Amino acid sequence: MNTSTTSPAHIAIIMDGNGRWAKKRFMPRTVGHVKGASLVPDLVKNCLKKGIRHLTLFAFSTENWSRPDDEVSTLMGLFIQYLEKEIKNMQAEGVRLNVIGDISRFPQALQDSIRQAMANTAGNTSLTLNVAANYGGRWDILQAVQAWQVANPNASVADLAPEQLGHYLSTAGQPEPDLLIRTGGESRISNFMLWQLAYAEFYFTDTLWPDFDAAEFDKALTWFAGRERRFGSVVA
Ligand code: FPP
Repeated sequence: MNTSTTSPAHIAIIMDGNGRWAKKRFMPRTVGHVKGASLVPDLVKNCLKKGIRHLTLFAFSTENWSRPDDEVSTLMGLFIQYLEKEIKNMQAEGVRLNVIGDISRFPQALQDSIRQAMANTAGNTSLTLNVAANYGGRWDILQAVQAWQVANPNASVADLAPEQLGHYLSTAGQPEPDLLIRTGGESRISNFMLWQLAYAEFYFTDTLWPDFDAAEFDKALTWFAGRERRFGSVVA
């Protein structure tokens, strides 16, 4: 077990504070989302530079449908734009896109773009970018149990071991996040990666997501490097 914490293999981020960032500037909340989305390409580049191989971004939760229609459609639009604009860079940089979440509720065109982008980047190995869209941690655990049951029709759930379930989660095959970052001042995980965050270090910052630049990211990494991870054990 690796207790050294110099560089996380997997970082998960709850990008919170877009609405407040815009409100502080007397602008509609959607402007905050546009600014927030514009940070993603540089963040990916930064991770590549630092050798971080897995990044998961919480873009749209199962609870976000209750937001006003214009906000929901802005978020969908930003996602489509990101897929269209960034696919070339993802290919050039070796980024594999993996959208996690129940995408069946999205417009058909968006579902098609997502599947296409995932297929096109499936062979890339420098970094896996998980974009959590219509994602919830409880959904992920449930769908994993259901998928396990389909794959093992004669088994009883009493036989299901934790290590097995990992193979059916939406992040199957990837290391669990070492570091969770939540911007925007809240100290909760809001139904994000409930299973996978079991041993993650949690970094909460008041910085609003649109202000989370490279210097802020470095601060989080420096904080992480100072943590001692024991995974429930003791350090000799
Ligand atoms: C939370 O801020 C943020 C979201 C619900 C959406 C985050 C999405 C993006 C940054 C776009 C991501 C796009 C891609 C392509 C990955 P909030 O609106 O809840 O902020 P508030 O707490 O200040 O109201």
